Amino acid sequence: MLKLNSDEVNKAAELIKAGGTVAFPTETVYGLGADALNPFAVEKIFKAKNRPPDNPLIVHVSSKDMLRIVARDIPETAFRLMDSFWPGPLTLILKRTDVVPDITTGGLDTIAVRMPANELALAFIREAGVPIAAPSANTSGRPSPTKAEHVIKDMDGRIDALILGEDSRIGMESTVLDLTVTPPALLRPGGLSLEEIIECIGEVMTVNVSGKSPGMRYTHYSPETKLVLVEGKSSIVPAEINRLVNDYREAGLKVGVIITRESSEHIDCDAKFIIGSVNNLKEVAGRLFSGLRFLDEAEVDIGIVEGTFPEIKEGRAIMNRLRKAAGENIVYST
Ligand code: TXA
Ligand code: MG
Repeated sequence: MLKLNSDEVNKAAELIKAGGTVAFPTETVYGLGADALNPFAVEKIFKAKNRPPDNPLIVHVSSKDMLRIVARDIPETAFRLMDSFWPGPLTLILKRTDVVPDITTGGLDTIAVRMPANELALAFIREAGVPIAAPSANTSGRPSPTKAEHVIKDMDGRIDALILGEDSRIGMESTVLDLTVTPPALLRPGGLSLEEIIECIGEVMTVNVSGKSPGMRYTHYSPETKLVLVEGKSSIVPAEINRLVNDYREAGLKVGVIITRESSEHIDCDAKFIIGSVNNLKEVAGRLFSGLRFLDEAEVDIGIVEGTFPEIKEGRAIMNRLRKAAGENIVYST
């Protein structure tokens, strides 16, 4: 895997034109890109990530002209949202054009599109001159990469190049909004809050969040270490976490805990990751994937994560990702 600096974006663009795969920074998470219109190039993404073929990719554009190559019958609502939130962490589901190969959309007649708010990413797409299909640049099922080193860990030897950039500013994937239904439907909570979208377009459907977006059906975001999520009031959860730590330790296990700054001092465990302040959901969203990866690095036998975040604004995406990462292992303490 070539490691390219920010002044070598032209090399990355050449690799894309030649049908290669290039990981690149965005404001949400690092993406693993290929020419969205070249089925052979897109297939390499699925192989590198070990991604199920029915899980469609997000196509990244650098202009509205580029958007029109892949999407048709774009509704007025889409333009209102683009004017407010692009470039930025909002992915729109639109009707797709015939030039898009089936493999890019997992066979669907719709397409997911976004314009990332990252100068390197935009320059890269512009130079490549084609829309870039890019899922998050992690092995399928693992936490998304928010740092270049995360991409190196998962993808070295599996892709052609990585553009070295800064840590992802937001650190949470984009919000996915389906505009092919009325009212528009939230398919994945993410970096742009539902509240901001509603303020812009008035009405959004949130029922069945995991049903329609194929990606939301799979186990996701999981560290290799088994993870237990403890949900409940912040006045009770730290004590519950300590109780669990003691139980696991008595069973001879090494325990890691992902915890808010406020609860941190009450916790006694083998490895601790402070995810941020309960009063700063943006900070927590940005550190969440690093926290999940920390458990593997710390080589603990089991991880416990505090789940006391209110499900408003960034908290909606935070709790969504934590529940997916924990799978069945959720303790409710009331
Ligand atoms: O922030 C992000 O969105 C990052 C960066 C790289 O842009 N990308 C990302 O891609 O998170 P990925 O592949 O990890 O997640 C894409 C999500 C999946 O849940 C997928 O099922 C959904 O978008 N999706 C893609 N195309 C779709 C479509 N046509 N209809 C419904 N859901 C779609
Ligand atoms: Mg992903």
